[in-house]
Amino acid sequence: MTRLQNSRVLITGGAGGIGQALAVEFAAADCEVILADISPQELSRARARLSTQGVAAETLTLDVTSATAVESAHREVHARWGPIQVLVNNAGIVHGGPFLDVPIERHLATYRVNVEGVVLMTHAFLPDLLVADRGHLVNIASASGYIGLPFGSTYASSKWAVLGFSESIRQELQEQGHEHVGVTTVCPSYVDTGMFEGVKPPLLTRFLTPETLAEKVVDALRSNQSLVLEPWLVKMTPILAHALPGKLSDRLSQLFGAHRSMAHWTGHRPQGSDASEAALEEE
Ligand SMILES: NC(=O)c1ccc[n+]([C@@H]2O[C@H](COP(=O)([O-])OP(=O)(O)OC[C@H]3O[C@@H](n4cnc5c(N)ncnc54)[C@H](O)[C@@H]3O)[C@@H](O)[C@H]2O)c1
Repeated sequence: MTRLQNSRVLITGGAGGIGQALAVEFAAADCEVILADISPQELSRARARLSTQGVAAETLTLDVTSATAVESAHREVHARWGPIQVLVNNAGIVHGGPFLDVPIERHLATYRVNVEGVVLMTHAFLPDLLVADRGHLVNIASASGYIGLPFGSTYASSKWAVLGFSESIRQELQEQGHEHVGVTTVCPSYVDTGMFEGVKPPLLTRFLTPETLAEKVVDALRSNQSLVLEPWLVKMTPILAHALPGKLSDRLSQLFGAHRSMAHWTGHRPQGSDASEAALEEE
């Protein structure tokens, strides 16, 4: 999608760290931004923060795991603003820890938000992109979509699913002749938003800032790049993880510290924005 100007962009999980940074970048590219998030409180905080940066974002409360909520969000977006040209599937959650120590409901919630949410949103909003003169689908996966992530097994596997889904849709759209709709899959290592509080980034890397990542994502849309792998080490991850013999790639992962990076995960501090977490606590 080389020309972004005047596009209407819908960002799920838009009240969170990466979602907000993306809102700023898209607004700077003269796009209209709609933030959708499960947490109305965090949405209004995000909106207030963005307005201090001169960004006027629209907001929509939405649980991406609910098919009926997604359908009615589609109707609401059309009624209030009109069809979108860019969908960013960014909402995501993580529950780290040894597999058996994490309650099963949390593992399943991870798949619901990270995988089912992406499929539901794409199913509802892709038709908008197809009828537009230009459109773009962005799926926020993760570097863990290429590797095993001890102490984050359901999170990593949910991102393997996003990566496979996103790449398949991209190729399917090409096969169907929809060249005017681009698809970008975003695979960052750790980003400083609080979601991965407590983790230790792999050797020779640091937490990315959400702003740096957002800039790369918007640049990728402009050049219709299908994959964003950040930082530099992640650019080599697909080869290191899959082209080398298993034992050697395990050894490298141990050497770089990726194997134990999640061992001390704590996640968002209590005042954080993970409303799904709060909902689970209430169950
Ligand atoms: N932070 C990282 O290190 C990192 C690394 C790689 C990939 N990612 C991915 O980037 C995306 C954004 O992450 P972030 O770091 O900004 O996290 P974040 O926790 O700051 O933001 C996530 C947002 O998603 C919202 N959300 C949760 N469940 C939802 C639901 N059911 N419906 C709608 N919204 C929901 C939350 O309220 C929150 O505002 C996620 O998909 C995450 O997996 C993050």
